[in-house]
Amino acid sequence: MHYLCAIPFYIGRSPQLTRYIHFLFHHKCISIHMRQHLFPILFSLILLAGCVYDNEEELLASGDCNTANLSYAKDILPIIETNCYRCHDAANNFGDITLEGYDNLRKWVDSGELLGAIKREPGFSPMPQGASKLGDCLIEQIESWINQGALDN
Ligand code: HEC
Repeated sequence: MHYLCAIPFYIGRSPQLTRYIHFLFHHKCISIHMRQHLFPILFSLILLAGCVYDNEEELLASGDCNTANLSYAKDILPIIETNCYRCHDAANNFGDITLEGYDNLRKWVDSGELLGAIKREPGFSPMPQGASKLGDCLIEQIESWINQGALDN
């Protein structure tokens, strides 16, 4: 076996590995010698795959957000009270917008403005004004509740 054939087997970075495999084919030095190196390569690939899988699991765990069977009273109202009432309750209806009470909130849900504003989509005023965007899970929960019919439940 040409000594060059052995060098990059121990290089872990994939672009180099790919280049080397091309090199092997080009020089026709993929042969029996390849076999003794197959194990370390496969072993590394399995380890790598394991790491990627682990990461995905962690991401899923940290993105644990309940979006099933949401209730206006238990799930949605507390989000709106905490983040919006200081400007949009009946007393402080900034911008003539009252989100206090189901019927008032529902108007802004049905117009699409509530979702557009909290998702900070172009064409809507970003809400809550002057504060950072609501957390992903809160936005997902509001959106799911709307998709589930925005019920007064
Ligand atoms: C610090 C005050 C403040 C807070 C907090 C706030 N808003 Fe607003 N909001 C305003 C003002 C003022 C306006 C009207 C002027 C404008 O559109 O920027 C407005 C406008 C809106 C509009 C109309 C936007 C549009 O583009 O049509 C919606 C919907 C809205 N707010 C929803 C919310 C929701 C939901 C929250 C909580 C997540 C929230 N706001 C929190 C001050 C606030």
